Amino acid sequence: MTESLENWLESSVAWAENAMRAAMDPMELGPKSFAEALRYPTFAGGKRLRPCLVRLINHEMGGRDADAESPAVAIEWVHTYSLVHDDLPCMDDDDLRRGKPTTHKVYGEATAVLVGDGLLTLAFELLANRGGPNALDMIAVLARAAGPAGMVGGQHLDLSAEQGGVNTDGVREIHRLKTAALIEAACELGALAAGASAAARQAARRYGLALGLCFQAVDDCLDVTGQATDLGKTPGKDAAAGKATLVADLGLDGAQEEAGLRAAEARVAAQEAGFQPQGFALGLVDWLLSRTH
Ligand code: IPE
Ligand code: IPE
Ligand code: MG
Ligand code: MG
Ligand code: MG
Repeated sequence: MTESLENWLESSVAWAENAMRAAMDPMELGPKSFAEALRYPTFAGGKRLRPCLVRLINHEMGGRDADAESPAVAIEWVHTYSLVHDDLPCMDDDDLRRGKPTTHKVYGEATAVLVGDGLLTLAFELLANRGGPNALDMIAVLARAAGPAGMVGGQHLDLSAEQGGVNTDGVREIHRLKTAALIEAACELGALAAGASAAARQAARRYGLALGLCFQAVDDCLDVTGQATDLGKTPGKDAAAGKATLVADLGLDGAQEEAGLRAAEARVAAQEAGFQPQGFALGLVDWLLSRTH
């Protein structure tokens, strides 16, 4: 491997954004004013972690970039919808996202709800139109991870937990559902794009689950230690809202330790999956652990 992780990430973000534009441009986005609102959070920046993971795992399992495009785009649209709704006043009530005013601040709450609905629906339209042998499997994987058994269920638990009564295992369950489910699905979608075996799909999922748990543990820490200019969102919101987080439960040191444990699990899973020993799947674990945004 000669390319650095930073270069690979930069090129993968550009790849994902090009794929998103190419996918969205020919789609019917409704009235001009709605299309503008829908594009606003979609092209507002962000790390593009989930599409990068689809590309990475597809590549590790022998697929071509072109095969990974539609699932990479679809999962980023689902993730972006989850952020638009997560920021609504009835949920986390945030004003800043990806360094910009949140969608409801710019376009109003009702439009922000509809933008989320629109992105979610477009993601599945895109996969349905993909065709090919694995499109239905991709739809099933993304639907399950996004729905009540995944992100949506996790968001419900996260909001209910503001009332208290949640222990460390409860917080871990919230993290698994609200965040890790989609990151796990990104890895499985990469495997599916490559036409991988059931065993390889399972190995990709194990890596994605550990990585996703590590990712949300770090997110909880960054809410305490991060800066708005780096994060592109307002820190300090979790404590203010009485959220059940790893930091609230274990303290900052304990939450950082937990992130380290999940990172170690992700490294083991990457080895067991047979990912390149000096490759980006391993490098990404350390990058996510030490991220500031
Ligand atoms: C934020 O996700 C929401 C969580 C699941 C913690 P990201 O940190 O991946 O947000 P973007 O996509 O980079 O904006
Ligand atoms: C968000 O968790 C998870 C989803 C959006 C599904 P958070 O509420 O912690 O995410 P941030 O901190 O607002 O990005
Ligand atoms: Mg939230
Ligand atoms: Mg939030
Ligand atoms: Mg957070």
